[in-house]
Amino acid sequence: FARRLASHSAALNREIAVYVSRTGEVLSVTVGYLDNVPLEQWSLRRSSDRLSMVRCIHTHPGGSAALSDVDLTALKNLRLDAMCAIGVSEDGRVTGVTAAFLGEGLATRLTPVYSLDELPQQEWFEEIEQSDRALFTLGDMSSAQGPERALLVSVDSEKSLDELAALCDSAGAVVVGRVLQQKNRPDSATYVGSGKAGELSLEAQALDADILVTDDELTSSQTSNLEELVGIRVVDRTSLILDIFAQNAITSEGKLQVELAQLSYRASHLKGQGQGMSRLLGGIGVRGPGESKLEMDRRNIRERIGQLKEELNKMERQRGIRRKGRARAGTPVVALVGYTNVGKSTLLNRLTGADVLVKNQLFATLDAVNRKLEFPDGDGFILVDTVGFINKLPTELIEAFRSTLEEAALADILLIVSDASSPELAAQRAVVEEVLDTLGANHQPRVEVLNKFDLALPGMKEKMPEAFPVSAVNGQGLDELITHIAGLLRERERLYYYFVPFSEYTLLSDLRRQGRLVSEDHREEGTLVSVMLDHAALGRLQAKYGGRLDMMARVSPEEE
Ligand code: GTP
Repeated sequence: FARRLASHSAALNREIAVYVSRTGEVLSVTVGYLDNVPLEQWSLRRSSDRLSMVRCIHTHPGGSAALSDVDLTALKNLRLDAMCAIGVSEDGRVTGVTAAFLGEGLATRLTPVYSLDELPQQEWFEEIEQSDRALFTLGDMSSAQGPERALLVSVDSEKSLDELAALCDSAGAVVVGRVLQQKNRPDSATYVGSGKAGELSLEAQALDADILVTDDELTSSQTSNLEELVGIRVVDRTSLILDIFAQNAITSEGKLQVELAQLSYRASHLKGQGQGMSRLLGGIGVRGPGESKLEMDRRNIRERIGQLKEELNKMERQRGIRRKGRARAGTPVVALVGYTNVGKSTLLNRLTGADVLVKNQLFATLDAVNRKLEFPDGDGFILVDTVGFINKLPTELIEAFRSTLEEAALADILLIVSDASSPELAAQRAVVEEVLDTLGANHQPRVEVLNKFDLALPGMKEKMPEAFPVSAVNGQGLDELITHIAGLLRERERLYYYFVPFSEYTLLSDLRRQGRLVSEDHREEGTLVSVMLDHAALGRLQAKYGGRLDMMARVSPEEE
């Protein structure tokens, strides 16, 4: 049989693989590379705690009988009894035979190369029995149990791949390989091109990857085409980011926002799903706050999206009320914004003594966190930490998180934090600008902050001369930053004079709350006051008192 396989294989100059049952029945024959074996078909037979009771005997035209990484991965993945390779010379003779068997913990045991006449048949049967016993005690240690093994692919750049790797890490997957296929624009059918997809399939098998992660958002047909060609589940950049958000959402509002973003994404990518790889197994792109709901059909998705929007609107209204309350109390709001992982939460903690989760992870903070910071004179401001920005931030997320992000857009001052230790500073800062633009946050004063200055790359200060170099870790530069913010807040105030008759007495207490009363002069008909008010406070007073406020306004203390 081996000799016949060898001669056909040489004539075709192709690998031939034969799958044989324990009773000697030939279950399947494939011609071509091993990667062309329809894995799914065999996967169905796969059981994590037993061998498949199938052995694969295949040829290596071109001589060597040595087993490749791809061969060994197929052995593991398909839980084969044995993977056997026959070396074939150009003239179709068998040059040697090797085999590999599975052992404990899915370790592989390789035999030396034997000539065809001296195959230790009995020993090899015993090897299979041994594998059977080893795997039986293996229990449920299937590859789906550990962290997902991710193969990354980008058509962009190494830098973009670096960031994708960091995202995978934050999502809890391990990166087992990365592939850069530089293209002007992604292939419309398969993202990488079908030739490259074939190579990825081999690579995925050799590396035993569970998922292929693409550096861009894919259409549903790109996803299903790619899954078909590569043979493993495909997760695009958007799903990956959504997954991180899903894992990190803590508050009920954050969870609803993530679910809304996930469902919006799903609704627009529904076609390919369920046709390709099963999404029932869990893992990246499938889990979420509403995990059980992620397999819904289009109509149900639309209904749930409607519900979510309604609930979020309610929460947004409450937030609006809180915001107004703060505004009435006259406390200014300063928002921390910036690329993910630049150290916003660390800064907030350091500045306010708060205890916000700090992780060297992307998107550790999803919920807008508010903390009050007080100056020695009793004044102060509210510091808001927001969700970090990232390149190619999914639009679904911006939409779903709009109300949280607007918290930043409505702030009195923006602290734009950059990472002085990142070679990507300029690109990241540009992304932040883009997102701020989308949010319409371009009217308030801005303060540029160069954080992680303790690790600054040379020349960073020169690149951003207007920025405040600080370190949230050792506290360097923070006093100067606070002094500057205090100055800005005060600078925005102007002195106003009002003559307040007794009938409008509430205005006096409002002025005390909203501004800083400089002087009070009690007269017979009322009180003449001078008060420092900022623009926002003035607006609030105007809203409350309307034209009456103007009537009470005076241009100088002399004018009554
Ligand atoms: P997102 O939640 O993803 O938006 O991140 P973030 O911007 O809030 O960053 P975070 O505060 O979680 O910090 C990210 C990492 O940077 C953590 O490991 C911090 O310890 C580290 N870090 C923050 N500030 C500094 C700093 O000034 N110097 C140094 N050396 N490390 C810092």
